[in-house]
Amino acid sequence: MKNTALITGASSGIGKELARIHASKGRDLILVARRLDLLKLLQRELIEQFDVQVEVIEKDLSVVGSSQELYDQIKKNGWQVDYLFNNAGFGGKGAFFDRKLENDTQMVRLNVMALLKLTHLFGNDMKARGYGKILQTASTAGFLPGPYQNTYFATKAFVVAHTQGLAHELKGTGLTITALCPGPVATEFAQVAGFGQSKMFDGAKSAFQTAKKGYRAMEKGKIICITEPQLSLLIKVLMPFIPTRMTSAIIAKMQQS
Ligand SMILES: NC(=O)c1ccc[n+]([C@@H]2O[C@H](COP(=O)([O-])OP(=O)(O)OC[C@H]3O[C@@H](n4cnc5c(N)ncnc54)[C@H](OP(=O)(O)O)[C@@H]3O)[C@@H](O)[C@H]2O)c1
Repeated sequence: MKNTALITGASSGIGKELARIHASKGRDLILVARRLDLLKLLQRELIEQFDVQVEVIEKDLSVVGSSQELYDQIKKNGWQVDYLFNNAGFGGKGAFFDRKLENDTQMVRLNVMALLKLTHLFGNDMKARGYGKILQTASTAGFLPGPYQNTYFATKAFVVAHTQGLAHELKGTGLTITALCPGPVATEFAQVAGFGQSKMFDGAKSAFQTAKKGYRAMEKGKIICITEPQLSLLIKVLMPFIPTRMTSAIIAKMQQS
């Protein structure tokens, strides 16, 4: 396999589009998610369209020990990962104390622990080889307080902070790390998170456009990629002047819309 990407959460949405973009460059792939049937459909599409090698692995990455199992399986097969897309993740609507704690801990195990473990395992190998690229799908939520989707916002704040600090430590190593920070994107995310037809997703961007921006930023070795200019302006320029209580009130209203 050559220039191989490991993509978590490749069965739908942003991960699926990242896979298509990577394959379109003649680069090989290892696709991971729980829904093997969807991974196999994508595998067939990419092999037929781009003549690349595509492997699929069914794995629930929220299970303790699953990231290590994935790493061991890939090593055992002799595959080398040069691109890591830590993309699998999910959200969940509702007030913190009204939500089942198990749903939130599962979210932390996937959005944070699996990402951390995979970055440590595969990132170490890339660093030793002096080449590699990691793209972590974070969110603009990572810069904001998140009432009524509190744990999700907190997981993404972790991803943003982890990426920013690690990017500094990796200077000059040949390995780069980028956080992709989209606003609302039209994927299965809203349904899975319990938002149904929420107004928050009116005008959501396409998964392809989002993935394209993230892929480009990763190739350039950028640290943070906020995909929408107006959100970038809001977060970087305006937010520091808005009291946190006011930001929280605005976010709370949006989450309940
Ligand atoms: N859509 C948005 O508005 C938005 C905005 C900002 C950031 N994001 C982030 O973008 C990333 C991708 O989400 P998306 O919008 O593309 O949503 P999506 O269509 O729901 O895709 C989520 C992907 O993660 C996989 N996944 C979920 N739970 C998993 C588990 N336990 N183990 C392994 N894979 C799992 C899903 O596959 P299976 O169900 O087959 O396992 C699916 O492939 C997430 O990290 C999300 O937080 C999304």
